[in-house]
Amino acid sequence: MEPSPVRTARRRHYLLCPPTHFAVDYAINPWMDPTRPVDRAAAEAQWGRLRDALRALGHRVDLLDPVPGLPDMVFTANGATAIDGRVLVARFRHEQRAPEAEAHRRWFAAAGYRPVRVAGPVNEGEGDFLLTGRHLLAATGFRTSRAAHHEARRVLGRPVVSLVLVDPRFYHLDTALAVLDEEQIMYHPPAFAPESRRVLRALYPRAILVAEPDAAVFGLNAVSDGRHVVLPAAAHGLAGRLHRAGYVPVPVDMPELLKGGGGPKCCVLELRPG
Ligand code: ARG
Repeated sequence: MEPSPVRTARRRHYLLCPPTHFAVDYAINPWMDPTRPVDRAAAEAQWGRLRDALRALGHRVDLLDPVPGLPDMVFTANGATAIDGRVLVARFRHEQRAPEAEAHRRWFAAAGYRPVRVAGPVNEGEGDFLLTGRHLLAATGFRTSRAAHHEARRVLGRPVVSLVLVDPRFYHLDTALAVLDEEQIMYHPPAFAPESRRVLRALYPRAILVAEPDAAVFGLNAVSDGRHVVLPAAAHGLAGRLHRAGYVPVPVDMPELLKGGGGPKCCVLELRPG
């Protein structure tokens, strides 16, 4: 067996939002069931452990103020995409989440990012845009529109690779694919249309392919700093594979937030001030 390479962490800067008003009052993805009760105190405790884990890894965590009446605001990944100090703020597909965009726009403007552009077409931020060393991987199919991919290339100045999602359980790119470092990704091939699978295989021939058991527990909803990979604790098999590939899995348990259709990555927006 080849020895696994030494993986190097890079210190990151993240934006999180406490689940102060978290609830499942509506269903906009197949994981959400408004008849099933949510334990908000448990959600806050689980989210607190995620925040603490990121800080313990040496990352900077900034917080967005939660807004009453916006129960999905804890999922900051959907609010924007920030690269080299440039920001494309989301335009949500569902009206229930639409006002979150303004909170993100204000936060980025106050933090000194320029330009801070609000997307024209539907665009759900880092839910559907993931940055690798070479590309901005972008998904469409359930939320973000294809027109948003073109806009992202113009505003953020990175080459965009368009991918199509086909399984409603994996409605955002960050539920089906995770970026591990500049060169490496992991993904669940059946979540993508055949042509997108071919594209991913050609661009990332050494990617870690993740099968149903780990994907179905949101194992791909992971946050990597290049070495440490924070992922749902239920993705046991995937944690073992990451370990063997030289990464350090950091399991976190977030069952309450999964009721909203989110995991660790959904709660984390990477900030790249440039
Ligand atoms: N309830 C939220 C929605 O459906 C969950 C968002 C999860 N975020 C993510 N980055 N996948 O919009």
